[in-house]
Amino acid sequence: MSPEAALQWLLSRRSVRAFREQAVSRQTLERVLLAATSAPSSTNRQPWHFAVVTDPHLKRQMAEAVRSRAEELKRIIRRGHHADDFGSYGDFFHEPLQTAAAIVIPQYRSYPDLIANLIESGGGDPTAYQTAGSMQAELCSTSAAIMALLLQAHAEGLGACWMAGPMIARARIGELLAISEPWNMVGAVALGYPAEREAQRQPRKPLERVVTWFDEASQSPSPALIRAQSGEKAP
Ligand SMILES: Cc1cc2nc3c(=O)[nH]c(=O)nc-3n(C[C@H](O)[C@H](O)[C@H](O)COP(=O)(O)O)c2cc1C
Repeated sequence: MSPEAALQWLLSRRSVRAFREQAVSRQTLERVLLAATSAPSSTNRQPWHFAVVTDPHLKRQMAEAVRSRAEELKRIIRRGHHADDFGSYGDFFHEPLQTAAAIVIPQYRSYPDLIANLIESGGGDPTAYQTAGSMQAELCSTSAAIMALLLQAHAEGLGACWMAGPMIARARIGELLAISEPWNMVGAVALGYPAEREAQRQPRKPLERVVTWFDEASQSPSPALIRAQSGEKAP
């Protein structure tokens, strides 16, 4: 695949929230999960686990648990001053789960921070150093796995939506799927063959806003930096 074609393919991924009533084969799901486990992870610990739910009764129980918590949330928010800001947003907490052919619950576990322990055993203060623990390396690794899962799903012609919403029913989902310490749920991924026409691409911030280049040409300090260094106030 050419770099340009790869980029166009990446740009064609969308979050899909409504699915056809069509099962996803075990073989396809296994490829999607193999893609997930191809992700890089801190010290190759592979700190992830995936619960894959295709059982209709269990899926219904999970979706219902999230829906009823979302309703609870809506009732609370309606009493406050920002009810309009929330609007029907709560529906995004559970709707994709309702028609998903499979619901994947990604999980991560933490490990002792090896470098922090070594620093401590040498008499140092680990909090004085930013070790892997300070960037939640296991959560980062599992997030990378989820992205790989989403991309393989896209390659399979599946739609997918990674959702934080189901976290509101984390305790109930934990009960249903026997998720317990040391495992932590990282939202849910709704998967299935898309029912909706291809959604509009959600806008992205332009590169100028999200990238700072440090190349030779940009090494002359910006006016803002010169001002900051001289203690001068911004105009
Ligand atoms: C961590 C995370 C949590 C998200 N939670 C939800 C969710 O609860 N419900 C939902 O419908 N979409 C959810 N999304 C999907 C985002 O709304 C979506 O990625 C974003 O609007 C950009 O659209 P795109 O994925 O189609 O490019 C979530 C995405 C991420 C990465």
